[in-house]
Amino acid sequence: MNVLSQEKINEIRNSVNIVDVISSYMPLTPKGKNYFGVCPFHDDTNPSMSVSPSRQIYKCFSCGATGTVFKFIMDYENISFMEAVKKVADMGGIPINIGKVQKKQNHTELHKIYDLSLKFYINNLNTAQGKEAREYLKKRNINEETIKEFQIGLALKKDNLSKILIQKFKPEDALKSGLIGKNDYGYYDLFYERIMFPLYDLDGNPVAYSGRIYNREDNSKYFNTRETEMFKKGELLYNYHRAKNDARKKNQIIIMEGFMDVIRAYTIGIKNVVATMGTAVTDIQAHLIKRMAKEVILCFDGDEAGAKATMACSNELLKIGVTPKVIRLEDDLDPDEYIQKYGKDTFQRKIDNPISIMDFKLSYLKVGKDLTNSADGAKYISELIDELNKIDDDILKELTIKKVATEMNIDESLIRNHLETKEFKKPVLKKIEVPDSISKYEKAESSLIYYMLKSPEVITMYNNKVTYIPNKEYRMLAREISAFYKNFGFINEADFIDYIECDEDLMQTINKINKTNTKETYTLEEIDDYINVIRDYNIKEEIKRLTNKMKNLTDPLDKAKIAEEIVGLKKGSVN
Ligand code: CTP
Ligand code: MN
Repeated sequence: MNVLSQEKINEIRNSVNIVDVISSYMPLTPKGKNYFGVCPFHDDTNPSMSVSPSRQIYKCFSCGATGTVFKFIMDYENISFMEAVKKVADMGGIPINIGKVQKKQNHTELHKIYDLSLKFYINNLNTAQGKEAREYLKKRNINEETIKEFQIGLALKKDNLSKILIQKFKPEDALKSGLIGKNDYGYYDLFYERIMFPLYDLDGNPVAYSGRIYNREDNSKYFNTRETEMFKKGELLYNYHRAKNDARKKNQIIIMEGFMDVIRAYTIGIKNVVATMGTAVTDIQAHLIKRMAKEVILCFDGDEAGAKATMACSNELLKIGVTPKVIRLEDDLDPDEYIQKYGKDTFQRKIDNPISIMDFKLSYLKVGKDLTNSADGAKYISELIDELNKIDDDILKELTIKKVATEMNIDESLIRNHLETKEFKKPVLKKIEVPDSISKYEKAESSLIYYMLKSPEVITMYNNKVTYIPNKEYRMLAREISAFYKNFGFINEADFIDYIECDEDLMQTINKINKTNTKETYTLEEIDDYINVIRDYNIKEEIKRLTNKMKNLTDPLDKAKIAEEIVGLKKGSVN
């Protein structure tokens, strides 16, 4: 294989000066130690991008785009990392031979299972038995191109996928995928007679499905893969990997509820859009949204449930300092229906004219109240004050106070007196608490990540062997490190910290890790040990979950089945 070594990539990066390279794409002006230019990654006319010759990185203060020379070329020319490396090598006069660069992706067994199942389901849709499903999609105005882009497939009646998976993979891995089950008669498909919409992780790997009924009655319109090691519904957004670039360029991201809505928006060329998939937005999802763009527009279903979801989602965003805007659709329509009924231009006009979150909340709070009645009026004002206390945006706050005072014919001070005064908060790092004795599990997570920050070799081991880091803060950090390495092709704690600078949470985790680990060097055995401890922890958790499940079962056969599963897991556990 022809993958370049870390040293080679560093050599290539050092063979050019980032200032010269970026200057060949756009004008830069020197100012102090750095150079400045208009950022090409978002709409702007101000020179908000700085390029540092000493650190050999660029950074946009407006949209947050950061990286090395490779990242700049990748994003500017829309090419892969290796293509960018090749370009820079050419500029620097370094001969390299990267004939076939293999993309490192999808290493774990679960990923392989999903890759295979995706091909399998896509193929089903094109067979004779797929006719009814194809007709259903046609009736919903989903054309061939869209089917291809979103890799829509079909699960048929027979237990075909389970047969293939059991042949090609270890049964315990196949069962872990959430695609098949096992009973006394053998293995069976969990999805049947459903149109299969793959759900992707943040990098765009398929990690789950949402299957929709199309030819029969069923209690659930959509059936989703249960949570697995690599699929946590609350930690991803539908279409994130496709939307993020467009969102960053436009500095705007549109949030919808259903993935059908996103698919519809995509077909009319609106690509900076993701879906929450019908569940309450978690704080992880809110952070993902925050990272994509400054302007966040909530475009949920036009019905009452959609209004309620808009309230909930906006509050989650406000908590982390994002003030979203809102679009409401008439006649209880969802975006998919709205776009089909009114067309692209009308919908685009909606996006271009969103209302403020406070205007939305004002009308939301009025529902069911008679404001001429003083009890209702008082309730309205008191609820409004609660909402005002959630927002940071001073101008919006001010405008809202004025509006409501006029509307309710009260003195502004009546509202102002009830507002919490927010003192100016400088982002200070919370005190790091390191307990005297941390568990061996936490130690393993923390040490693994400590060395990931130092060595690509450890990142690769993490990518290949670790499916899931139990602790949320460590998990997020490990993911960011892995993503950084994937984007830039090197790892260096300083550059990484620079890259995530704005993120207080991640910094805290890094500090904690640096406090509990001090040794500079590691052995591969040590890393393997950490990975095994983490794996063991996951197995133990799964055993706990199954034991609990077993307690609630009454049928001895069901109990025996779970017991068998537990025995299997115990065998796989190291200690
Ligand atoms: N959803 C789900 N399970 C259900 C219903 C909904 O997981 N039984 C999720 C799906 O991810 C869906 C989202 O919630 O995309 C929004 O639900 P809904 O508005 O009912 O879906 P639509 O996009 O309107 O789906 P369709 O147009 O196919 O009816
Ligand atoms: Mn719909």
